[in-house]
Formats: sequence, C-alpha cells, structure tokens
Amino acid sequence: MNRVLGDVAVVQGLASGMVSDLIKQVTTAIVMVFILIKMDWIALLGLMFFFPCVFLPVRYFSKMIRRQGHRAQGGQDMLLQRLKEVLSNMRVVKAFAREDYESTRFRGLSHGLYSLGMKVVRIQGLSSPVMETVGGLLLACLALYGTIRIKSGAMTGGEFLAFLLVIYALYDPIRSLTKMYADLQMSTVALERVFRLLDSKPTLVGPANPTPMPEHPKLLQLENIKFSYGKDEVLKGLDLTVRKGETVALVGGSGGGKTTLVNLVPRFFDPNEGRITIDGIDIREFDPRELRKRIGIVTQETLLFMDTIHDNIAYGLTASRAQVEAAARKAYAHDFIMAMPKGYNSPMAETGSTLSGGQRQRIAIARALLQDPPILILDEATSSLDTESERLVQQALENLMRNRTSIVIAHRLSTIQFADEIIVLQNGELVERGTHFGLLEDNKVYKKLYDLQSFV
Ligand SMILES: Nc1ncnc2c1ncn2[C@@H]1O[C@H](COP(=O)(O)OP(=O)(O)O)[C@@H](O)[C@H]1O
Ligand SMILES: [Mg+2]
Repeated sequence: MNRVLGDVAVVQGLASGMVSDLIKQVTTAIVMVFILIKMDWIALLGLMFFFPCVFLPVRYFSKMIRRQGHRAQGGQDMLLQRLKEVLSNMRVVKAFAREDYESTRFRGLSHGLYSLGMKVVRIQGLSSPVMETVGGLLLACLALYGTIRIKSGAMTGGEFLAFLLVIYALYDPIRSLTKMYADLQMSTVALERVFRLLDSKPTLVGPANPTPMPEHPKLLQLENIKFSYGKDEVLKGLDLTVRKGETVALVGGSGGGKTTLVNLVPRFFDPNEGRITIDGIDIREFDPRELRKRIGIVTQETLLFMDTIHDNIAYGLTASRAQVEAAARKAYAHDFIMAMPKGYNSPMAETGSTLSGGQRQRIAIARALLQDPPILILDEATSSLDTESERLVQQALENLMRNRTSIVIAHRLSTIQFADEIIVLQNGELVERGTHFGLLEDNKVYKKLYDLQSFV
C-alpha cells in the first residue's frame, strides 16, 4: 500500500514540479554559457574548475540521502504494516489488554522513522553551507581576477560588471540544478520501489496457446502428486479421482496436507511431481483464469467485501436481483437477509460485524452457487460453526454440491458420511480409502477418528 500510495505520490511531486523548472534552468544555463564564451572564454575555462567543486560534494550528499531514504521508506512500510495489523486485530489487543504494549511498539517504530528522517534532513542541511562556501570562494576568485584585468587595462570596469552579472545568472541555474539532482535522488528511492513492484513477474504463467477448458468437465484426476513448500515433502505421492457429480472427502489430522492438496487444483501452487488432469488434459495447459472460473472454493474463513449483501453474493458478476435471491435461498441465507432493515442492499460495513459465522458462511455459499462452478472445493467450510448453524450450512452445502465434482475437507466426520469416497490422509500419505461404512468395518484409522468424535 505504501508503494502504491506513498511512493507514487513522491514520484508524482517530482514529475509535476521539476520538469518545467528543469527546462527553464537548463535554457538559462546554456544561454549564459554562450554569452560567456563571447565575452571571455579564458575566464569560462577557469570557471570549469569550479564545477567539480560544486558537483562532487552534491553527489556525495545525495548518495547518503539515497541510502537513508531507502531505510526510511522501509521503516515507513513497517510502521504501516503494524498499524494495519493492530487496527484489524483490535479485539485481540483489547481482550489481552495489550494497549500499552502496542503503543510502546508503535512509538519505537515511529521514533526509528523519526531518527532516519532527521538523518536525511541533517545531510540536506549540511549540503547548503558547503554550497555557500563554494559560492563565496568563487566570488573571491572573481574579484581577484577582475582587479588584475582592470589594472592591466584588458577590461573596463563596466565590462567586468557585465561579466559578473552573467556569471551570477549562470550560478543560479547551476545551484538549482544540483539541488534538483539531490531531490531527484530522494525520489529515485521511491521510483525504484515503484518499479520493483511493477517489474515483479507473476509466479504463475499460463501457456502461450491454452487448450480450451471443457465446458462440463467429467473427470478430475490427481496422479502421483508430490509437493513440498520447502525441503520437507508435504504430499508424498497421492492419487485421487473424482467423477462428475461425485464427492470425495479428505479427512485426517491437522497438518496432514489436505489444504495443500486442494490448493493444487486451482494452481495456487504446482506439484513438484505428478500431474492434475481434467478430462485427461493437464491443467497446466489451460488458461489459469479459465480454470479458476470453473472452480468454486468455500473455506473456513469467509471473506466478505465492504459492499452490499447483493454485491457480495454477485461479486463482480452482473447478476439480477432474482438470480442473487435464488442463490441466497438455496444457501439458506434469504431469510436472515430479508430480516435486515435494507435487505439485500444492506451494506457490509454496517452489518458485517453483526453477522454470525454461519450467516457469513451462507453468504459465501450463495456466492459460490451463483458462480455455478462445475468443480467445487470445500475446505473445512463448517468447522468453525456451532451445531445449529452447521445444520443450515450443511444443507446449503448439499444444495451446492448437487451435480458438481466436489472435494470436501471435513473436520466433523458426521458431515461426510454420504461421500462417494473418503480418503484418510496422514502426513501427506494416503493411509485409507473407501466409503464411510466400508471404512468403519475395516476398523482402522477412520474408525478410530470416528469413535473419538462420537464420544464428544
Ligand atoms: N504456505 C505454506 N508454506 C510452508 N509450509 C506450509 C504452508 N502451508 C502449509 N504448510 C505446511 O504443510 C503441512 C500441511 O499443511 P496443510 O495442507 O494446511 O494441512 P491440513 O489442511 O491437512 O491441516 C503443514 O506441516 C504445514 O505446516
Ligand atoms: Mg487445512
């Protein structure tokens, strides 16, 4: 955010203010140099000597400014990050009574930023006396030069005065150009940061000639999938087949790799080995956006936007009220939406925090229903809900799963008994597969998990 807002503003200030000034100063400087050549080119050569005296310290100072500038911007990033975190986690801060802790931390960060800012100002402040000294020296030399020339009769007093005025007129643009150079260094910091963002390459690159997606995919297959985030293998060679209209459930302990596995289907990551196919075609051959459009995802945390309920369900589609309402009805969300004062037009900003987890979840399900994706992924969609709202959400989910190819991750095994196949994952390995009743009969891992939950 700081790069998009802060750094861009710095660059904007540079672009709007400096360009016109630059043209003016450069033109003046060129004209003055020409006049000087006409008047006294030997003196001009002498002046050339002063140029490095002006330029070198300026370059030195601006390098330092630039280094500090990078640090200061980095510090600002951190401060903003902290601020955003604290504000959005306000409840945690309050619940743990950590206001003082957070203020101290914030003060520390902003003090660090202040020190960095002071350093920059100090360097800038130092550069001014240096320039003045150089200017004073120049004037003294000129006075000496003039005295000699006038005494020897090579120049009249009037000529010398004209000469002085031209030099003065030249000094001014040089001074402001060097100052501009220093300012430019400061903005370069911002510019570099903006460009680093603009130049960053997307990690997911689609194929040059994507294969068109099948309109109604019939078969989703994962073949010998191996995957690791770092060096530890999270998935150790998994196979999975889901046919159209079928539901495959993934169960198993936390950290077993269930979420990782389903994240491979919309290509949030690509497997290190093995492949995922839809109707026999590797998903890497499809346009990633087309692929994702055909996959609906409902997760544990439901992310809603600061729009109206209608816009949250339609999310970017131009859907009519009737379509949104139909989706909301199937998601068992219609009734509680209608109970709100403004119904579907209620803004989330007002109601967002008053909605219960189950209600938010049903809005998310309505969103997925409206998208009407042939492939559906449910990642612990009911885990954070109480039993009462879980029942409603479960019914909504059953509506959603009808006639779709679904992969369901469930924490509560009671919710996946109907699945066509249940796969038990442990530490990235498939330990059992079968139907609910088959697995219960086998009396192994699944049975143990099931028994543990029946007692609760
Ligand atoms: N983005 C990530 N970067 C690194 N490791 C991760 C990441 N996401 C998950 N993991 C690790 O991968 C393993 C499997 O996690 P996950 O797929 O979320 O399991 P599950 O959904 O079955 O609880 C865990 O050990 C977890 O720490
Ligand atoms: Mg998970």
